Amino acid sequence: MKVLVTGGAGFIGSHVTEELLKNKLQVVSVDNCVTGFHDNVPLGVNLYKMDLNDPELEFVFKDEKPDYVIHLAAQASVMASMNDPYLDFSTNTAGTVKLLQLVKKYNVKKFLFASTAAVYGEPSYLPIDEEHLIHAQSFYALSKYSAENYIKHYSQYNGVESCILRFSNVYGPRQNENGEAGVISIFINRLLANQKVKIYDGSQTRDFIYVKDVAHACQLALLSEVSGVFNISSCTETGIEDLYFKITEATGIPAMPSYEPRRVGEIEKSILNNRKARQELSWDLKYTLLEGLSETIKYYSEKHVKTNIRV
Ligand SMILES: NC(=O)c1ccc[n+]([C@@H]2O[C@H](COP(=O)([O-])OP(=O)(O)OC[C@H]3O[C@@H](n4cnc5c(N)ncnc54)[C@H](O)[C@@H]3O)[C@@H](O)[C@H]2O)c1
Repeated sequence: MKVLVTGGAGFIGSHVTEELLKNKLQVVSVDNCVTGFHDNVPLGVNLYKMDLNDPELEFVFKDEKPDYVIHLAAQASVMASMNDPYLDFSTNTAGTVKLLQLVKKYNVKKFLFASTAAVYGEPSYLPIDEEHLIHAQSFYALSKYSAENYIKHYSQYNGVESCILRFSNVYGPRQNENGEAGVISIFINRLLANQKVKIYDGSQTRDFIYVKDVAHACQLALLSEVSGVFNISSCTETGIEDLYFKITEATGIPAMPSYEPRRVGEIEKSILNNRKARQELSWDLKYTLLEGLSETIKYYSEKHVKTNIRV
């Protein structure tokens, strides 16, 4: 069985690739490496360094004949989406439609899509389940939700089997510490570099899930017979200030943060209900927050040592 992973050189895509290889599936990858890195792709996996909207994408389907597609490639920055909604639309919505056309044409067995908790916007109840109202508050969320609707349409009228996974806040090794989303990798890297950490208020809460738990959910959803929308989350609420002190304790670097007012437009609380995924995908979490943090800190500590030696 061969799986085409888009975004395979990215943070989550590289862990999904490892999970698939561990389960004896063949993997090929498409990624333009705009935020991903060739080094993230395991040895032996063919990486097509290509944009989703490149007309040559069809040759990948023709030559590789993938049985399945996991679509993770995306413009994943909310800030970038607000600055350039067209770029966001062309990658996240149009790029997905382009893939769906090829998935249909080349009889791919199942299409799995990485969506986001951002589609729910400000929650009207917690934990947010899959029936919660959709209220996309950024162009990023809108582009993802539009892609979801194309996927649903393709499933309903064009016979494309699909699953949509809405991830909460994913963290772990290889997350880009210069990105805007990865608060855990930002905190760890600043502490390791003896830099001050800024906390904007800190009472807001998020639902953090370890990337290996996400990769496992992707593998189960791909090979199961279920379809539809699933939240993939830890269903555990963690305050940002609390998270910071968990990290200082785990790193053994007891630095105090500096506090700033809450940023405008930030959601106060976020927690996703994961009951549907646990019941229908027979998936469960393997990592507690402390276990995931410990693996992530180990990864970044080793990276810092290597970088400092090179300097
Ligand atoms: N990280 C999170 O917390 C989180 C939460 C919810 C959803 N997601 C979704 O999960 C997926 C993976 O996110 P990530 O955190 O690994 O981000 P990432 O930026 O590390 O990975 C995205 C990958 O897509 C590639 N890419 C971007 N535009 C492309 C294009 N036009 N053509 C080909 N490749 C392109 C990038 O080079 C990168 O390798 C995304 O779809 C994102 O929206 C992530």
